[in-house]
Amino acid sequence: MNERTFVMIKPDGVRKRLIDEIISRIERAGLSVVAKRRLILDRGLAERLYSVHQGKPFFERLVDHVLSGEVVVMIVEGEQAVSRMRELIGATDPAKAAKGTIRGDFATSVTENIIHAADSLESARREISLFF
Ligand code: RTP
Ligand code: MG
Repeated sequence: MNERTFVMIKPDGVRKRLIDEIISRIERAGLSVVAKRRLILDRGLAERLYSVHQGKPFFERLVDHVLSGEVVVMIVEGEQAVSRMRELIGATDPAKAAKGTIRGDFATSVTENIIHAADSLESARREISLFF
């Protein structure tokens, strides 16, 4: 099924100059970046993006990290875009992420894990509406 998902390159990914590398991996997987913005989040927007994690022990750390610099938000479209993007990014913890995945190749910690991608179609719709 053709789907649209939401992807965000986190500040560590931007600082490591991975924007072009990540976009080319997305395109090589047969998906398309159909919208893209580079911006600095404000706290309210970061908290809304991660509202499902409110109250968890890592919430403040996560929000502070995504506020630590510029991010790139994107709409990615294509067949099975939600699950394909989750495969491309790899496991949340880079120590468990496979080689060849974005996190497996570039991430340094659970917090500094380079990239976010929506975990379901419903999350994708909600997250896209926050930015586009
Ligand atoms: P994301 O939402 O960023 O795509 O990551 P994910 O689905 O793979 O992982 P999720 O469980 O949704 O967690 C969101 C982000 O919170 C940070 N996190 N830190 N134990 C911890 O310190 C911890 N657990 C999660 C990560 O940055 C994760 O990407
Ligand atoms: Mg998630």
